[in-house]
Parts: sequence; C-alpha cells; structure tokens
Amino acid sequence: MKIPFGAIQRDDEEFRGELLDALRESFLSGRWIGGPEVEALERELGAFVGREAVSCASGTDALVLALRAAGVGPGDAVAVPAFSFGATAEAVALAGGVPRFADVDPDSFCMDAETLSRAALRGARAVVAVGLFGRAAPCAELSAVLDSEAPGAALVEDAAQSFGAFRDGVPSCGASPYAATSFYPTKPFGGYGDGGMVFLPDAASAARVRALCNHGQYARDRHEEIGFNSRLDAMQAALLRVKFRRLGSLRERRAAAAARYDALLRPSAERVGIALPSAAAGESPVWAQYTVRVLPGRDGADRRDALRARLAELGAGTAVYYSAPLHSQPCWARFAAGAECPNAERLSREVLSLPLTASISAEEQERVAEALVASLETFR
Ligand SMILES: Cc1ncc(COP(=O)(O)O)c(C=O)c1O
Repeated sequence: MKIPFGAIQRDDEEFRGELLDALRESFLSGRWIGGPEVEALERELGAFVGREAVSCASGTDALVLALRAAGVGPGDAVAVPAFSFGATAEAVALAGGVPRFADVDPDSFCMDAETLSRAALRGARAVVAVGLFGRAAPCAELSAVLDSEAPGAALVEDAAQSFGAFRDGVPSCGASPYAATSFYPTKPFGGYGDGGMVFLPDAASAARVRALCNHGQYARDRHEEIGFNSRLDAMQAALLRVKFRRLGSLRERRAAAAARYDALLRPSAERVGIALPSAAAGESPVWAQYTVRVLPGRDGADRRDALRARLAELGAGTAVYYSAPLHSQPCWARFAAGAECPNAERLSREVLSLPLTASISAEEQERVAEALVASLETFR
C-alpha cells in the first residue's frame, strides 16, 4: 500500500475547471493586486463570520495584524498555548509583545479555562486562543475567564487550522473580537499559495489594519504608523472564492472520513493504547487533522516514533504536529522560564496525525487503521 500523508491535490479535482476559469479571468483582468476579487473575498468571508475582514499575505501576518489591532505593542505580555505551530508565538514577538506560555487540555489540544494559567494571564494585554487540528477554539469559555480575571486583556483567535469549524453554531473567527486565519494550502480553507485574513470587530479597526498592510498609509503618501507590505494577490483571491463555495461540502467529507476512522479504531483503541480525537457537544470541527495520541506502552516507554517508522515501512504516511512544545524551543528560552506545561510536553511525545483529506477512500482508511492496530499489537 502507498497512502501518502496530505494528498490534497485530489480534493479539488471536481471543481478544477472552475478554478482554472477563475484564474484565467483574474489574470486577463490585469488587476493583480487588490481589486474586485480581493474585495469580494473579504465581503464573503466577513459575512460568513460576522466580522469585518481584511486580507493579507499570510496567516502569520494576519495574526500579527490582529494582535496589533487588539492593542498589543512593545513589551506587552500575551498568553499563548505552549502546544501550537511556532507562528502563534512568533506573531506575538513580531507585534512587539512577549509570549507567556500556558498549557493545553490533552483531549481537545486547546488552551482552555482550566489550563490558561493565572501566571500566564497576570498583566497580559491579550490571550491567543488557538483552534488546533480543525476544532474551533473555546473562545466563549476563555472570554469568560478574561472578563472575570483580566478585563483589560483582548481575546485573539488563531484560526489558521480551524476556519470553517463551528462551536455552538458560531463559526470559527466569529467568537472573539479579533481573529486570523491562513490560506496556506494544507489548511482546511487552504488556497494555492500563501495568504491570510484578519477578522475585526468594527470598521475603524479594519481601516487601521488596511493601512498597516499598506506601509501604514491611511491615505496615499501619508504614513501615520509604521506598517509593512502584506497583500493578497487577486489571482489567489479568485481561486479562494471558488473554493469558499465548496468549504461546507469539503468539511462534510472530512467529517465523514474522521467518523470512519473513529468507527474503525474505536473497538481496538483501549486495547492497543491509543486515544482518539473527539469533539465536544455542540462542536463541528473542520478536521484539519485526525490526530491520535499513542499512549505509552506497558513498560511506560513512548511508542509513537517506533509506530510511525513501522507505518512508513508499510506505506502509510503520517505526520507529527508538534514534536516539541513552544516553550522548549531555543528561540523562546528567555521567555519560557517558569512555564509549566506538562500536557504540552506529553502531547509532543504522543501525537500522530493520520492521512485525512476530503477525498481519501474508505479502503485507504481501512488499510491505515489495520496497519496501525496491527503495528501497535507488536509494540505493547
Ligand atoms: C496555528 C497556526 N498559526 C499560524 C500559522 C501561520 O500561517 P501561515 O503559514 O499562513 O503564515 C499556522 C500555519 O502555518 C498555524 O498552523
């Protein structure tokens, strides 16, 4: 068998003609930066989420801009989960802030009301809620913590991996005043290159972010703040608009694939020692990843890496997001003193993402599940 991890090229086969038409039209229009396609994408995504939307060049830029819009500036402390992609903490530093690492819940992989430590929260200007692996971050729960314990702190959602997910009927990016997502191709709402979108609570902050993306110019040749260049290409926006119309059906197909893994693995999970991902009541994840936890063997030793190597020999590609928590990364050493994040440390030794795309076949999933269970039988 040969089942690669992240074979996303097959997902858009059925609407490739529409993508090529949109690309051609946008190319021939001669408006390659900004213009009607970019404006229409901003309107459509803003309406979907219920916020003002401003496009930019990447998810990292979107998060920097969301943090700046939320008031983060030089020296401000910002609480972030220790278990996330590096860009979450990096964006804080790029906005001038200082990341403070908090732990995550081992079942949802997200920082929640229980793991957002008082140490990380004390004096924080903002808190970044990350929705990992396609689950919308628990923004309502975190907002309540901020209201009671840090009323001056803003909630900023990093929804790079969760655009298209819902929690209690609210779309990801719509449950916090400031949010950011990424159009990096492997994301649930991935495009065909780099790009990102910032979601904001009002027209004034949207106007400020638009200016920051354009060298801080509020009007031509009027640089009121130090900004930078972060723009979305028109051709990328045209492609994303086609894909946006498919977002719901792509999410349904991914959810069906996740449910299939569940059905295949649930009967053996406890016996072979894996924990399956789950969604809480009221959640509708977009399943960016199907990430299992490979629990330690009977001797207490970690088994994830041996399992991964065995699956690779059998032809099943897997991925590890993330093999080290952020607070243990060399670049954050000076900000990580005192960070206590045992769940993040444990997850980085246990997580394993299985191949999941909208177009993975039932047979491919059966083979992956069989190989996983059979291999674990040998590493108990
Ligand atoms: C959680 C998270 N935040 C931020 C980013 C940054 O997005 P981009 O790669 O578009 O800059 C990513 C993805 O790469 C991510 O997974």
